[in-house]
Amino acid sequence: MKFIKVKSYEEMSRQAANIISAQVILKPNCVLGLATGSTPIGTYKQLIEWYKKGDIDFSNTLSVNLDEYVGLDSNNDQSYRYFMENNFFKGINIKAQNTYVPCGIAKDLDKECKEYDENIKKLGGIDLQLLGIGIDGHIGFNEPADSFEKNTHIVDLHESTIEANSRFFADIADVPKKAITMGMVSIMQAKRILLIANGKNKEDILNKALFGPITPKIPASILQLHPDITVIYSEA
Ligand code: PGA
Repeated sequence: MKFIKVKSYEEMSRQAANIISAQVILKPNCVLGLATGSTPIGTYKQLIEWYKKGDIDFSNTLSVNLDEYVGLDSNNDQSYRYFMENNFFKGINIKAQNTYVPCGIAKDLDKECKEYDENIKKLGGIDLQLLGIGIDGHIGFNEPADSFEKNTHIVDLHESTIEANSRFFADIADVPKKAITMGMVSIMQAKRILLIANGKNKEDILNKALFGPITPKIPASILQLHPDITVIYSEA
C-alpha cells in the first residue's frame, strides 16, 4: 500500500487527479471506477481543468460508478447520476453511452444488480477504482455487516450514513433509506485502487481500516488485501 499524507484538500485533489489522468493517458480506453460524495469533487474539478487545457482526452474512456440511491431518478439533484453529470461528465468529453451508474429506479432491482456486474465483466473489469470512505468504514455503500457482500446488491443504509448524507438534503427524512452498490468483487478486482479521504473526522476510521484487523464490520479494511492501492489523505 502506498500512503500519501498531504497538507490540503487541494493537494489531495491534485495528486488524485494526477493518478487518474496518467491512467487515461496511458490507456485512453480504460475503465474508470468513479465515486460520489464531497471528497472527489476537487479531483473532478482538476481533471476538468486539465481537459479544458487540452491535456487529457476522455473520448474513449469508460466509467462505472459505485452506487446510487434507490428511488431517485437522474433528474433528482441528489441522485448520483445527477452528481456525476454536474460535477464531472458535462465538463469533459466522455461519451454519455460510456458512463454507467446503477439505475436506482429500475423496476426489477435484483436484475439491475446482476446486469451491472455482468456489464463490468463485459467491459473487462475496472482499471482504476476511485474510492472515498464513510465514517463507518463503508466503501461505495457497502455498510458494516457480518460478511462482505460480493456482488452488486441492495443495501439498507445505516443511520450514521443517512445522518452524514443528510447535509445534502433539505430534510433528513428525504434521505433514501436504501441504495444499490457495487459489491467487493468488482472493487477488489480493479487493477488499481485510489482511496482519497480528507478531514480529521476520517482519520480514526482510516487508521482502523488500513492498519487494523480485516473485518466486514469495517468494509474498507478488505482493501488491505489489494495488491495495488494508493491512499491519499489530507487532514485539513
Ligand atoms: P464524503 O463521503 O466524500 O462525502 O465524505 C464518502 C463516502 O461516504 O464514501
